[in-house]
Amino acid sequence: MSILDIVTFPEPLLKEPTKPVENIDEEIQQLIDNMAETMYAAPGVGLAAIQVGADKSIVIIDTALGQEEGKRDLQVIINPKIICTEGSVISENEGCLSVPDFRSDVKRCAAIEVEGVDREGKPIRIERDDFLSVVLQHEIDHLNGILFIDRISKLKREMYRRRVMKQLKEK
Ligand code: NI
Repeated sequence: MSILDIVTFPEPLLKEPTKPVENIDEEIQQLIDNMAETMYAAPGVGLAAIQVGADKSIVIIDTALGQEEGKRDLQVIINPKIICTEGSVISENEGCLSVPDFRSDVKRCAAIEVEGVDREGKPIRIERDDFLSVVLQHEIDHLNGILFIDRISKLKREMYRRRVMKQLKEK
């Protein structure tokens, strides 16, 4: 297993929709293992394949992280499809490993249903209305080329973009 580089804004790849996984082969299993290692090292509660430069519809999440020392509950969802089943909620202080040094409140669905398959190819179905629901919405957005800063005001997004461009120029 190895820790992969995380692609960050404004890398154009992050805006590309990903492709469904057709065969869960050795290569995909290895990608998932590397994604997990990368997420735990960051650390983060979720990661989409595109964030490590892989053009595949895969998300991993672990919301047990940080709750208890050493506790892990990795969930892998391949080719997820999401539907919003209930109203809206404000996700406070959302952040993203691909959007360093920035956090913002984001409007999200209050409840969701997700369908996909796990790493063994078994169908999974998740219904949630809690923190994990928000994490799933965030990660599945990545598969559609959407970052959380695409869901905030244009003014705030512009401020962040300018800050990043300035930092890149200084480097
Ligand atoms: Ni993210």
